[in-house]
Amino acid sequence: MSLVSAAVITGVGSYLPSRLVRNTDEPLSLLDTDDEWIRSRTGIRTRHWVEPGESTGDLAVQAGRRALRSAEITSVDLVVLSTTTPDHHSPGTAPWVAAQLGLGNVAAFDVSAACSGFTYALAAGDAWIKAGMAERVLVIGAEALSTITDPSDRGTAVVFADGAGAVVLQRGCAEEPGALLAVRLGSDGTQKDLAIVAAGGSRWPEERQQAARGERCLRMQGPQMFSHAVRRMTEVSRLVLESVGWQPDVVEAFIGHQANQRILDKVADLVGVPGPARLGNVRDVGNTSSASIPLVLDEVVREKSVGAGARTLLTAFGAGAVWGSVAMTWPDIRPPS
Ligand code: COA
Repeated sequence: MSLVSAAVITGVGSYLPSRLVRNTDEPLSLLDTDDEWIRSRTGIRTRHWVEPGESTGDLAVQAGRRALRSAEITSVDLVVLSTTTPDHHSPGTAPWVAAQLGLGNVAAFDVSAACSGFTYALAAGDAWIKAGMAERVLVIGAEALSTITDPSDRGTAVVFADGAGAVVLQRGCAEEPGALLAVRLGSDGTQKDLAIVAAGGSRWPEERQQAARGERCLRMQGPQMFSHAVRRMTEVSRLVLESVGWQPDVVEAFIGHQANQRILDKVADLVGVPGPARLGNVRDVGNTSSASIPLVLDEVVREKSVGAGARTLLTAFGAGAVWGSVAMTWPDIRPPS
């Protein structure tokens, strides 16, 4: 039997900053909102935020270290870090994270694809391995979204949160548990204003003026994002399932980007994913953008509630607009110690 070469997930790790914020805690309790609204409209009860001075890079280092430990390796050929909140406008955060992890002069770059970032970063790692450019890749999704959230905006402050998750990809074969079997990505830049940090980039003078008005926070048109998210996550999930020839009812593990429980339920219903396959933690961690999928992955690996080799579907949608889905099998990895 000839084995098909593939990138295989062999390690996973995650990290949440220690500051736990309940719906009833400040500064959320100062807003014109309440616990009942937040729970019923988003599914969120708690989230974690960084402390002043704690950065995306700091979270990424912690998650990356745990993923390397779980894969039982100390070196990789590439670090890909997906984030919307890099430590600096320039340089990228990935090289600093690689250095903190003692990975030497390894190739390292950031991916900017908002809440779909983890699927894009996985696709990059997968492609490097398939092209023979890397044997082992550390893929991290890390965010400190609280640093770009306006605490007085009830439409975003209750939703966005901080955290990091990471996986190790290694060259292996498609028959192994943890193999990435298909990836589908897409974008629609005409929708860029749906969720945007308008100021601070190179598009000026308008955005310089916005910067002066304090437009360095993420602004979101929530209901529009909601309907685009449902439509695109459903479409791209169907596409990736078609690529691997799976009917939706054979999916044993489904992890959608943890934006809002109502979005996740709608997508899973429309795609036809069985109830027991639906995994998530938006209730406890909120919307952590590119960290959200690996945070769930790590949590479920720790719980050991999904068996190695289970048919797994990942799907995400984010600002840009961008979207992505991955079909894979559940990895056979031990929880990081
Ligand atoms: N507390 C109380 N009321 C709130 C509120 C809050 N935190 N946020 C909004 N509202 C109000 C609105 O002002 C609006 O009031 P109005 O009817 O008097 O105008 C009403 O509740 C409904 O607002 P709406 O924005 O339609 O609520 P929603 O049910 O769509 O929930 C989000 C808002 C942000 C939770 C939701 O739109 C969402 O999750 N959007 C998608 C996010 C997403 O896709 N992210 C993926 C990539 S980041």
